[in-house]
Amino acid sequence: MKVFLNKIDLSHHIDALKAEGNTIGFVPTMGALHNGHVSLVNRGLRDNQIVVVSIFINPTQFDNPEDLTNYPRTIDADIELLNTVSNSKIIVYTPSNEDIYGDQVVSESFHFEGLEHEMEGAFRKGHFDGVGTIVKRLFEIVKPDVAYFGEKDFQQLQIIKKMVELHQIPVKVVGCSIYRAKDGLAMSSRNARLTAVHRDVAPFIYKTINTAKAKFGTESAEVVTEWVSEQFKAQSLLELEYFVIADVATLKPIQIKSSNNTYRAFIAVYAGDIRLIDNIALN
Ligand code: PAF
Repeated sequence: MKVFLNKIDLSHHIDALKAEGNTIGFVPTMGALHNGHVSLVNRGLRDNQIVVVSIFINPTQFDNPEDLTNYPRTIDADIELLNTVSNSKIIVYTPSNEDIYGDQVVSESFHFEGLEHEMEGAFRKGHFDGVGTIVKRLFEIVKPDVAYFGEKDFQQLQIIKKMVELHQIPVKVVGCSIYRAKDGLAMSSRNARLTAVHRDVAPFIYKTINTAKAKFGTESAEVVTEWVSEQFKAQSLLELEYFVIADVATLKPIQIKSSNNTYRAFIAVYAGDIRLIDNIALN
């Protein structure tokens, strides 16, 4: 498998592949790859001749320096895993901070029509400026035809779609269903850092939002939100940061339930020091 550390070499290689008529799928990641990432890569391989996987822990999207320091770094295992998927059709790009940022490791400032102020944006200051900066730069370097993102980070997915629209970036953005462990826990690189006790209790998050979805069929958003909050008060190992039922188009919390709108429930929870997010379509 070809592994590039440098954007110029990668760009030349991709230009040559495109000149031969290959389409390029792209899966941006921060490494610590798991089956959720593999499902994105497989989707990319179904749609394209070549899939580029970037592995880069982007410092500018971390609001918490400890989270950045402790983020799992497993590059050898990541490459080994990708090799089992395909060693001829996958290209890995694993740049240094300098290759991406030069000597100025800072974010650009973005407006995403307000999508950036809700939920993750409210709790993780500057996060979506960091995400916008890195994804825009990676799109410029990789020049993919299609890019694949997991719906676990649904707000991120909506923001990237908005960025592509507002900045007229010629990339098709495809959202892929959340990949869950058998017990329902949404796959995340951060799961590797859960203690055994927290890993055991973490499926409670999905179980709760799944029941919330059923309740939303007959109850108001307010009643469902209160019910979720009560469930977490009774669960001492998990700390609820937010539970929000929001309109998918605006990501604003629901005001009055309308059958014309599409809603999703979003949740962020601390399991010890590890922050987990999840979400579920409601209608
Ligand atoms: O979802 C992620 O892993 C990251 O936010 C991304 C899209 C790779 C940008 O660093």
